Amino acid sequence: MSASAKVLALDKHTKNGDWTVVLPRRGKRRICSQRNRTPEAEQLPWVPTELESDPDREAKLIQKMEICIKKVETSQFYQNFLEQVKNPEIMNSFYKVLGLELKMQMVIYGIGSIESYETPRFQLSLAILMKRKFDWIGNIEVFDPIISATESRVLESLGCSVLSVNEQGRRRATKPTLFYMPHCEAELYNNLLLANWELELLNHIVLFGNSFEMYEFLTEIKNSIIVDSTGHILAARKFADEYVIKTVSDDYFAAFHDSSWHFFSPDLDTELLCKK
Ligand SMILES: C[S@@+](CC[C@H](N)C(=O)[O-])C[C@H]1O[C@@H](n2cnc3c(N)ncnc32)[C@H](O)[C@@H]1O
Repeated sequence: MSASAKVLALDKHTKNGDWTVVLPRRGKRRICSQRNRTPEAEQLPWVPTELESDPDREAKLIQKMEICIKKVETSQFYQNFLEQVKNPEIMNSFYKVLGLELKMQMVIYGIGSIESYETPRFQLSLAILMKRKFDWIGNIEVFDPIISATESRVLESLGCSVLSVNEQGRRRATKPTLFYMPHCEAELYNNLLLANWELELLNHIVLFGNSFEMYEFLTEIKNSIIVDSTGHILAARKFADEYVIKTVSDDYFAAFHDSSWHFFSPDLDTELLCKK
């Protein structure tokens, strides 16, 4: 799809009340004003607002998730998705991130409410299917501040660990890590890049999330100045390889439109200098 056609798709989507690409608010502070923030500074302990899990809701949600996982597994969307991942160019990128390690952990940020909406259920199903399919995917950790105690229990029954700290997306990738961040806000991708703005750390990251190419395109057509929440996204475009996810049918559009795999291979420290 051409970039302009994608924008039309986004507009159409917005009218339906679903998710759309959220551009940053115009702001006065520029990228380098973040220099003094340490990644750890804003990581806060977190507990769900609903403290007790509800066993009836839990059982219903487990059933819904099982149905959803089956639906995704038997879809043309998933077949295409697997073919794309197994494509030698993309597979090599995954192996490059893995290096000598056998496993790549998965960190899921911003999944949304799997109890309330189908879109997060589709997104979680895909992550779980990937873990089942590829033995090089390790443990899955999940965080979204809106997760309820019931959802937390269901996530754990599906083999995920729910974090008890809001990392604000600032996990440092000291080992190979697949960050699965479907349709998150720009600020969260930016936080992730800022916390990992070093050659070694960026080389450890695979990012599934909103298309960085799309952010660049939208920034250009909106004639925005570079502000905090996309500064590192736009800067990373120089050394990111991006592969767009094909949604294939309307069923999977809401969950995966404008999503891409991103791999980062900065060659020289100089490519990172101006943003630190
Ligand atoms: C635009 S919604 C996308 C939800 C879902 N993935 C979807 O496509 O419908 C962004 C999500 O990011 C979550 N979020 C906000 N701050 C976060 C943080 N610090 N860490 C993880 N998730 C966060 C929000 O609660 C929200 O569920």
